[in-house]
Amino acid sequence: NWSMKDFIDEQIQKIRAIVGDRQVLLGLSGGVDSSVTGVLLHKAIGSQLTSIFVDHGLLRKGEADEVMASLEGKFGLNIIKVDAQQRFLDKLKGVSDPEQKRKIIGNEFIEVFNDEAQKLDGIDFLAQGTLYTDVIESGTNTAQTIKSHHNVGGLPEEMHFTLIEPLRTLFKDEVRELGEQMEMPHDLVWRQPFPGPGLGIRVLGEVSADKLQIERDSDYILREEIKKAGLDESIWQYFTVLPGMRSVGVMGDGRTYDYTVGIRAVTSIDGMTADFAQIPWDVLAQISTRITNEVAHVNRVVYDITSKPPATIEWE
Ligand code: XMP
Repeated sequence: NWSMKDFIDEQIQKIRAIVGDRQVLLGLSGGVDSSVTGVLLHKAIGSQLTSIFVDHGLLRKGEADEVMASLEGKFGLNIIKVDAQQRFLDKLKGVSDPEQKRKIIGNEFIEVFNDEAQKLDGIDFLAQGTLYTDVIESGTNTAQTIKSHHNVGGLPEEMHFTLIEPLRTLFKDEVRELGEQMEMPHDLVWRQPFPGPGLGIRVLGEVSADKLQIERDSDYILREEIKKAGLDESIWQYFTVLPGMRSVGVMGDGRTYDYTVGIRAVTSIDGMTADFAQIPWDVLAQISTRITNEVAHVNRVVYDITSKPPATIEWE
């Protein structure tokens, strides 16, 4: 009878046999897959694993700190954290097209990662949190821990790594089970799907530090209230968006002209189709009151009542 515990033991043996006394590099994104990969590898080879965590400034509020506190603080991973917020902001300046933003964020991510990787000596392996669904989608169906590869994801030609992908045979729910089994924090393991370009595509149009601040703070309030209402595990994804439009409002004796925040919350099985979540009015009211009270330069909150299709889950 196959159990997750057997899987862990088996993978640890496999990884040790493959790696020997050599060094492994891992890119952490803050997501479930790379975090679980990191903890599993650390169990197997300890300090022979070095992780690079590129903080592009597009993660949700508190997320980068949580990743560090958990993976470095609790599990003892050796993590090089790169604060690259300004680099990403500079590259995104003046860019408002969603697909172009995605491309820029993706490319910059690889560049920052490479810059750091090149400072390290004697790395033989690159670990990745590839899941079985990724394997199927990319059309290679050899479900094994390791495959030979080089020039991965735009890494420079001179860097030849062998790829280690210990989650290659697993589905998402199994990765979560694996994380739970290794006693990783519940919140990290059950994190809602989050796009690679992060808040960069939730601040619509041109991204700026000020807009990111509004987006992060309003999103944090939404998450707190959804959790408080006990809805966090029944809603597939919930987040705020900043359309960048401003409208007229009133505060005290004065007229305001400030930003609108949109709430997006959907139920879904796989993200391919989705229905807008029917959050109770009193919860929505509390979210709206808190956002307008606590987040500067927001005077209006709207609720997205569109399903997918015809809308998409993200607004960009
Ligand atoms: P849409 O907005 O197309 O999203 O309905 C479907 C699912 O995909 C996520 N998403 C992305 N994930 N990079 C990602 O890694 C992206 O550029 C991206 N765009 C959307 C979205 O959050 C949802 O779960």
